[in-house]
Amino acid sequence: MRSALLAAARSPQARSFVERTPLTKPVVSRYVAGDTLEEAVRVTGDLLADGRKVTLDHLGEDTTELAQAAATVHAYERLLAELGRTGLASGAEVSVKLSAVGQSLPRDGEKLALDNARRICEAASAVGTTVTLDMEDHTTTDSTLGILADLRVDFPWVGAVLQAYLHRTEQDCRDLSGAGSRVRLCKGAYKEPESVAYQGKDEVDLSYVRCLKVLMNGQGYPMVASHDPRLVRIAAQVAAAAGRTADSYEHQMLYGVRPDAQREIAANGTTMRVYVPYGDQWYGYFMRRLAERPANVTFFLRSLLTT
Ligand code: FDA
Repeated sequence: MRSALLAAARSPQARSFVERTPLTKPVVSRYVAGDTLEEAVRVTGDLLADGRKVTLDHLGEDTTELAQAAATVHAYERLLAELGRTGLASGAEVSVKLSAVGQSLPRDGEKLALDNARRICEAASAVGTTVTLDMEDHTTTDSTLGILADLRVDFPWVGAVLQAYLHRTEQDCRDLSGAGSRVRLCKGAYKEPESVAYQGKDEVDLSYVRCLKVLMNGQGYPMVASHDPRLVRIAAQVAAAAGRTADSYEHQMLYGVRPDAQREIAANGTTMRVYVPYGDQWYGYFMRRLAERPANVTFFLRSLLTT
């Protein structure tokens, strides 16, 4: 099921079918704040008022046109200006997929993505907040970490995402565990081959814990991005064993997933940051969320069949 959904996430035919089904929208709205900047800012304000922090993602990925990459940069610039104007920037940062700002363009894609990400960093810097680079499939990992290194020369606060399912990630955690580094550790959401990624849940969880230990014992700022109750508990234990205080790392979860656990962690004094996607390019993001939890698919199909 997971493989089929992740394959569908990249199929134009499946995309057109799912997007044209009117009943998809209520299910999508569980995971996506809305189509517009105004809706994203309203949800951000509500979450901050509730004691959580936010990272905002302007949805889009695998951009193949220059104009679309430029439009994405413009959307982030507008968003960051609005966060500054409304006073929300102290609790909200942004997350960026490099493939949405040109990384996958055939000619000079990497350079374009670097230039575009730099513009987003400048806009974030102007309002006093930060940027974290999302991580996409393994074919982009080296390129994304290269762009991260270039950006960090001028913007040392730029964060990275590392995926525990990749064999390489424990070493990447060592490389990125130095002072000033910000690393969001997640399990990984793409369909990856055995040659590069652990396939079993237990193997991925064990890798996650090994990576956590490296990050928590390093000098950077670990961001524990998981809804898995066992890993959330282990993260607190590993942090305590490493002598970390509650303000020296944070937990992160996705908008719409385990909101009660989000509130509980925030109430216990550790930062809880919610990843809030918005925009009309929700297809790929939504399909990866369905793939994470088979019960979501049943719910989605039932809602289609009961009309
Ligand atoms: P796991 O999948 O085992 O889920 C644990 C429990 O959480 C489930 O039993 C269920 O209760 C609940 N849950 C999890 N997913 C759910 C869903 N979709 N709907 C409802 N309940 C759900 N990946 C990536 O490859 N690149 C990236 O850049 C990012 N970025 C990112 C940022 C943040 C803040 C988070 C939290 C996650 C990501 N991810 C990601 C996604 C990540 O790789 C992973 O796919 C999901 O977080 C699910 O893995 P868990 O660790 O939550 O465990």
